[in-house]
Amino acid sequence: MTYPYQINNIDAYREAYQKSIEHPEKFWDEIASTFVWRKKWDKVLDWNFIEPHVKWFLGGKLNITENCLDRHLATLGDKPAIIWESNDPEEHHRVLTYRDLHMKVNQFAHVLKNNGVKKGDRVCIYMGMIPELTIAVLACARVGAIHSVIFGGFSSQAIADRLYDAQAEFIVTCDGAFRGNKDIPLKNVIDDALIGCRFVKRVIVATRTRTPVSMIKGRDVWWEDEIKKVETQGNPFYEPEVMDAEDELFILYTSGSTGKPKGVVHTTGGYMVWTNYTFVNVFQYQPGQIHFCTADIGWITGHSYIVYGPLSAGATVLMFEGVPTWPDAGRFWQIVEKYKVDILYTAPTAIRSLMGFGLDYVKPYDLSSLKVLGSVGEPINEEAWWWFYRNIGKENCPIVDTWWQTETGGIMISNMAGVTPHKPAHATLPLPGVNPVLVDEQGKVIEGNAVSGNLCISQPWPGMIRTTYGDHERCRTTYFSTYPQSYFTGDGCLRDEDGNYRITGRVDDVLNVSGHRIGTAEVENALNMHNGVVESAVVGYAHDIKGQGIYAYVVYDGSHEDENLTRQDIIQTVSRVIGPIAKPDKIQFVSGLPKTRSGKIMRRILRKIAEGDTGNLGDITTLLDPGIVQEIKNGALV
Ligand code: WT7
Repeated sequence: MTYPYQINNIDAYREAYQKSIEHPEKFWDEIASTFVWRKKWDKVLDWNFIEPHVKWFLGGKLNITENCLDRHLATLGDKPAIIWESNDPEEHHRVLTYRDLHMKVNQFAHVLKNNGVKKGDRVCIYMGMIPELTIAVLACARVGAIHSVIFGGFSSQAIADRLYDAQAEFIVTCDGAFRGNKDIPLKNVIDDALIGCRFVKRVIVATRTRTPVSMIKGRDVWWEDEIKKVETQGNPFYEPEVMDAEDELFILYTSGSTGKPKGVVHTTGGYMVWTNYTFVNVFQYQPGQIHFCTADIGWITGHSYIVYGPLSAGATVLMFEGVPTWPDAGRFWQIVEKYKVDILYTAPTAIRSLMGFGLDYVKPYDLSSLKVLGSVGEPINEEAWWWFYRNIGKENCPIVDTWWQTETGGIMISNMAGVTPHKPAHATLPLPGVNPVLVDEQGKVIEGNAVSGNLCISQPWPGMIRTTYGDHERCRTTYFSTYPQSYFTGDGCLRDEDGNYRITGRVDDVLNVSGHRIGTAEVENALNMHNGVVESAVVGYAHDIKGQGIYAYVVYDGSHEDENLTRQDIIQTVSRVIGPIAKPDKIQFVSGLPKTRSGKIMRRILRKIAEGDTGNLGDITTLLDPGIVQEIKNGALV
């Protein structure tokens, strides 16, 4: 498969960029025409950012799996779609060719149908990183069901909230998942999530760890048994459901600065075009190359750059079940050597963690197959950038620093490997179709270069969020009301003298912990659920490996003879309510929080104390009780 829209040099980039901004409809019409549609669209784009109302390829009909699978069979049928590497380096790897993957997705589409799944139904997927996860995702798309994948690090309570919000009647899970030396009991977590839940009709359980699980009659079935039933039915082909370009493809929950996580909704046509276009251009993918994205499919990075982008481009993806540091910190490099990986796309937190183990874990491996390196999820600091560039890329591989979000569907600001220049710690230039603007606190657009502001996007792009599930008003207020006529990203940003963008981090109350997005309000809610916690405030602080760590100030009213035990109890509560990924790194017990006379917590002060930067706390005279600041400073855990 070749890509007529792949940009090969910087002039072509500039030309494409200009055209995409001046004539977006013409630009995307040509690109979308290279995909397989059952019916062509009547209109490319219809939008306003007031409601917001964004529709791409109106009236177009398609099924995304025909683009990811069927259309490749004639040319790539025997080529690997997925190479799967187990958590255990001793276990044999699996290879699924496009023909294999097509067959398995068709089979599982039948399984979904046999179990009552219909077009538009929500299917929750809670699995480890095994090929069946990709198969389940694509099978949902084939039958027209809306998938909602939940990362394996979320708790029963978090799953229950998401199931309820989406009214998902179907679940696909595993008995358990292997991650490093852990065996995570996924089905047990699902069982707890389903206590008292009346609307879930069916749980399909794939076998992986074969840890003992409860199987409830009439509700729970084994994946393998259901496949056997389909096999006896003969022809495994499943006629793909014909979807509207704007039919919902999936929901993915993500945290914001307030309330519970919201379900970000992506639709079929625009998301397909956007993930494919950005994959092909940013990574400069060439047919036959092996693309290794280390993200979990539970996050948007996995959706877009393990599943939909690469597979719609006929690429070979490497899917890894394990973690970077097990059995030792050479695991990634061993995989790169074993499969002669061409493209490695990973997160700064992983790079920083591996850096800490030293070069002895890198040196034994031949990394000469690598051509492109990628970074995603959080700002990459210069030290990590250079380590990655020198020791992994051997100064031969461009690094693409890709800035984007769950809401943007795919990469927005990034250099294109070898086509536009990289610059350490800079995402650099917007991709065609992306119109970034920087605005000040008053909403005034900041023109020119060598400036900084809040990052907004002023024009729609095909992969953008359409709504937040079940609550369109929340979508409007969260993203489209802060600055009129613009999508607000929540990120602060610099634009250098050459027009390169550098994302500096969130400007709202959202933390980025190891590339995972966590709302401070969400953690506070969880802390406050602990018996004895009167009040709490959560802030981020710079953490060498995680990027940000979670620092919690807790007003505790219980009798705690043993502070450390109480801390552990509180951490356990957060783990139960949200999941282990949201556990505070530090808990400081305080007798009160710094508040203004109107009762607002002065987070600015708490952030400074958490950073150990207590020299100048700014004006504290407006505080209700300025004395509390001294107490908190004295007890700071830094
Ligand atoms: C937030 C989005 C993008 C998929 C994975 C995370 C931060 C993401 C970069 C980057 C600096 C980055 C932003 C953004 N972020 N990529 N290359 N440089 N910051 O998706 O969970 O939706 O988080 O991650 O703060 O808003 P997400």
